Amino acid sequence: MLTLNPVESAGPKYAVYQQICEQLNELLSGETNFVANAANTSALLYESLPDVNWVGFYIAEGKELVLGPFQGRPACARIPFGRGVCGKAAAQRKTIVVPDVNRFAGHIVCDTASKSEIVVPLLNWGKLLGVLDIDSASLSRFDEEDREGVESIVSVFLASQVTNDLPDLSEEAADH
Ligand code: SME
Repeated sequence: MLTLNPVESAGPKYAVYQQICEQLNELLSGETNFVANAANTSALLYESLPDVNWVGFYIAEGKELVLGPFQGRPACARIPFGRGVCGKAAAQRKTIVVPDVNRFAGHIVCDTASKSEIVVPLLNWGKLLGVLDIDSASLSRFDEEDREGVESIVSVFLASQVTNDLPDLSEEAADH
């Protein structure tokens, strides 16, 4: 049975992220399905991270990002690479932290309550699978510690995807 204790969000940030990483590792163990694991990751982050109003995945498809599992208000379904914070993080393959979304040229408004945002690309052995996007209704909600923390969370998520990209060398596969 799946039992997860609520994350103690009152402690220092690194301790909160450490607890989330441990719980996520447990939650995703034995499952490699992208949608199932992205859904559980967004749900765990949404309930564990203080002061966030949207947590979700965009999945890379051709030259655009398509909305994946998320928690929060309905969001735009497609974002071309290079557009908005998500599209820029995908195109640059780098984490982007935005202290004030109203000062980010080209920011795409989904929830008008969102004031700051962090977007981390999902790079699986060099292949861009999509991005993880987290929004907050507070200005400057995300700092360097959050960048490290969210990137650690993405590493745990990606570890659950690694085996999906390995060639199947089993005897059964060799027979076909
Ligand atoms: N603000 C994002 C769009 C996605 S929503 O925040 C959920 C962006 O500029 O890419």
